[in-house]
Amino acid sequence: MPAALILHGGAGAADPDSRGQRERGLISAFAAGWNVLSHNGRALDAVISAVAVLEDDPVFNAGLGSCLTQDGTVELDASVMDGAAFRVGAVGAVAGVRNPIRLARAVLEDGRHALMVGPGAWRFARERAVPTLSAQSLVTARQYQRWRTGRGVATPGTVGAVAQDTAGNLAAATSTGGLVHKRSGRVGDSAIIGAGTYADNGLGGCSATGDGEPILRTTLARTAVELLGGGREPGWAAQTALRLLGQRTGGEAGLILIDGLGRIGYAYTTPTMSVALSVERQVQLRVA
Ligand code: GLY
Repeated sequence: MPAALILHGGAGAADPDSRGQRERGLISAFAAGWNVLSHNGRALDAVISAVAVLEDDPVFNAGLGSCLTQDGTVELDASVMDGAAFRVGAVGAVAGVRNPIRLARAVLEDGRHALMVGPGAWRFARERAVPTLSAQSLVTARQYQRWRTGRGVATPGTVGAVAQDTAGNLAAATSTGGLVHKRSGRVGDSAIIGAGTYADNGLGGCSATGDGEPILRTTLARTAVELLGGGREPGWAAQTALRLLGQRTGGEAGLILIDGLGRIGYAYTTPTMSVALSVERQVQLRVA
């Protein structure tokens, strides 16, 4: 079957100043993920490749360029789910790891645990040769300035990917620095399977973006995937899940989805969400 891929670069307010940089970042990440899929590679490898490129790009709030906690540190959340085998891997509040999505993948491959946090997750990275670095090396001047002036709690730029490979397998991945001035030790939806990330070959795959607490309270990614039951259309499932989120919590968010037939959908109730998606093997961008 034809492969399908959709990425997001976060939901939130429009930011015309960084638009060009976010477009270039999404195009590079899409190319990395599509390169895997177009060579009959696995959806799991495609979402990891795409998200790792976004983590390396300082314009996004993930990996390098993540926002800072109230203590001025970087603490990262990431998760990945393989919808073929129902395998998962996630990390929360981890410092000093350049690509937390690769660490989440290592947790998935290891298989003993589903979620690892804090210093234990960092030690696991060392054990599994996932690159580590000094905690401060992920701090960029832009995020330091944002932290110092205390502007805004919501920091758009969480990143995520959903893919279906030519064998029909689905995978989803999400990565973030979370919210600026969050308490040290806070873990958001991007680390939690079912909230920020979910994939089930029988139904679909999803990655969420937005303020994590309402997303956690409604297990939004799984809610959206379950709405795909009965062959319902992904755009409708994404809109319906976001309507439920709004009704129950007053929260706003964005979702990307692919169903078991390879149909792509997305929706957001925030002012905007950056996305890149495959349309007949070509990348299509929506960035504001
Ligand atoms: N959705 C990202 C966060 O709240 O941490």
